[in-house]
Amino acid sequence: MSSANALRAPLAPREPARAREHALRPDVNQAHVRFIGLAKTYPGQRQPALHGIDLNIRRGEIFGIIGRSGAGKSSLLRTINRLEQPSHGRVLIDQVDIAPFDETQLVALRRRIGMIFQHFNLMSAKTVFQNVELPLKVAGVAKAERQRKVRELLELVGLEQKHGVYPAQLSGGQKQRVGIARALVHDPQILLCDEATSALDPETTAAILDLLRDINQRLGLTIVLITHEMAVIREICHRVVVLERGEAVEQGEVWQVFGTPRHAVTRSLLAPLQAKLPESLQRTLQARPGHPEAAVVLRLHVLGEPDLTALWHDLGGRVTLLQGGVDIIGSQALGQLILAVRGSPHSAAQLLERARRWTTDVEVLGHVD
Ligand SMILES: Nc1ncnc2c1ncn2[C@@H]1O[C@H](COP(=O)(O)OP(=O)(O)O)[C@@H](O)[C@H]1O
Ligand SMILES: [Mg+2]
Repeated sequence: MSSANALRAPLAPREPARAREHALRPDVNQAHVRFIGLAKTYPGQRQPALHGIDLNIRRGEIFGIIGRSGAGKSSLLRTINRLEQPSHGRVLIDQVDIAPFDETQLVALRRRIGMIFQHFNLMSAKTVFQNVELPLKVAGVAKAERQRKVRELLELVGLEQKHGVYPAQLSGGQKQRVGIARALVHDPQILLCDEATSALDPETTAAILDLLRDINQRLGLTIVLITHEMAVIREICHRVVVLERGEAVEQGEVWQVFGTPRHAVTRSLLAPLQAKLPESLQRTLQARPGHPEAAVVLRLHVLGEPDLTALWHDLGGRVTLLQGGVDIIGSQALGQLILAVRGSPHSAAQLLERARRWTTDVEVLGHVD
């Protein structure tokens, strides 16, 4: 589509001093958004909504923010376009501290940063075309240019046929496409998504994720995405941070965090991704062994292609596979195995320790007779 090139924002010229700094420090070079010692306490609240946040979001990546409800996800996202003002610390966009920005600078900043929402926030009395056109009108863009841009964006999001209809006549997925088109009118370099697929059914979610991935790749946009759906993170994010009570408790590549979650909150967030235990196993699984020959049931998550022969050997006894599967995250294989170990000379605690030579993510689910 021709719109991809037309949408690509020109590269900002860089002064030589910054170029030198970039050459010396590739991490700085890559940081598109940088949080330094960020903290936020809302007026009248005793607990901070955010504190001690040190985080880099790289240019051109899809970055996920996860955490339980109230963990501070939206607060963090909204400091990027200064819908929220930090109480302490700094937010740098392209190495520039946005704290001292005046109204004019904020308007310019917010044009560089698009945002989409769970409930789309469309104007019901305006057509699809007018909804997308509105921010261009507000910015004083001439009519011909507005029309060109809106048409191009409606084509990008696959809604060129719907330009004349009103939001009430659209499905949820179509409304979010309008939201995406509207967020892109000023050729932003960053797109913020706060639960943008949470009101959509799984099929529509998949289509919107495809669109976001397409936009990320073709326009080189940095996307920062909040979701409570772990499958969304697994599907399109490159890196992820886990927030808990306003703190970043875990962060890294998605395959790493999902493959070897270290924090209890991460584990509980990821629980919905775990394969359900077979019903027969659920019925027979006991917390304590019924007799000395009862089998120990282990669940392991393994990265890559581990040597299973050696694992069997290490566990001892007869190892049977009760359930297993492999997900591909990015280009990494992440396997899940549920094993029954019977007749091993090792206790359940020893089996756990031995299995930990293979992966940090292993647990004893129980025992079966
Ligand atoms: N405008 C506000 N005024 C006071 N407290 C707020 C406000 N917005 C959020 N909070 C509080 O800050 C914490 C983090 O909220 P939020 O960032 O919305 O979390 P999340 O998006 O992870 O659910 C919560 O305890 C919430 O009640
Ligand atoms: Mg929120």
